[in-house]
Amino acid sequence: MIVANWKCNGSREMIQEWSKHYKDTYIPFDKTFVGIAPPYVYVDHLTNLINVHELDIKIGVQDIDISSGARTGAISVDMIKDMKCQFTIIGHSERRNIFDESDESISAKLDSVGSKVATILCIGESAEENKNKNTKNVLKRQLSIIEGKILSSSFSIAYEPVWAIGTGNTPAPDEINDIHKFIKDVVQSSTGNSIVPNVLYGGSVNDANAESFFKEDNVDGALIGGASLQGKSFANIVNIFNGKAI
Ligand code: PGA
Repeated sequence: MIVANWKCNGSREMIQEWSKHYKDTYIPFDKTFVGIAPPYVYVDHLTNLINVHELDIKIGVQDIDISSGARTGAISVDMIKDMKCQFTIIGHSERRNIFDESDESISAKLDSVGSKVATILCIGESAEENKNKNTKNVLKRQLSIIEGKILSSSFSIAYEPVWAIGTGNTPAPDEINDIHKFIKDVVQSSTGNSIVPNVLYGGSVNDANAESFFKEDNVDGALIGGASLQGKSFANIVNIFNGKAI
């Protein structure tokens, strides 16, 4: 599972170029879930281009609100479903830190999505928490929101250490593998239906380092920010994941 998080980036022109470059670089392989989460306003434009180029890419969004109605500025899960989006990211560290989202509000979002679309829940420790060897405690706290919940089999986690996002720094692949195993165990033992989720790694993944992460048993894919903004580098990463890179 390889997912692009475009954050607040892009334009109609960029998306047009992106689609052409992706198509030129991508080596077909139909077994991997490849997704893009563009800004909401570009969902329709990107969907059209994906159809024009016949690309096997699912469209999703970067966040979701808890309901429809009198909530100025909000977008609900029913709306994104109506636009044929198939997943939403929730709990990204930028939502937690810039927009002050709490574990409680992320839990409410998880409930509002239910099984309407797939959910990718982002968790990860800060540099300080990492330095103090507090990573697993922090992840456990962030995962406490799923306690006792019945989750859909399409529920996934993205492990994104905050200090690795957009910095060029990453944990070592074997450390990521160990954390992913820990996350799978916590989710399995705390959910009401004992699911074992796909766990994606996110934080400075690019086409030069992706293979080192994908080799690890518990790394089921990646959530990619910066390197996903170029169609060519994103397609390269998908090809590497598929074992098709030349
Ligand atoms: P990055 O971002 O790949 O630019 O580090 C990842 C993310 O924030 O999801």
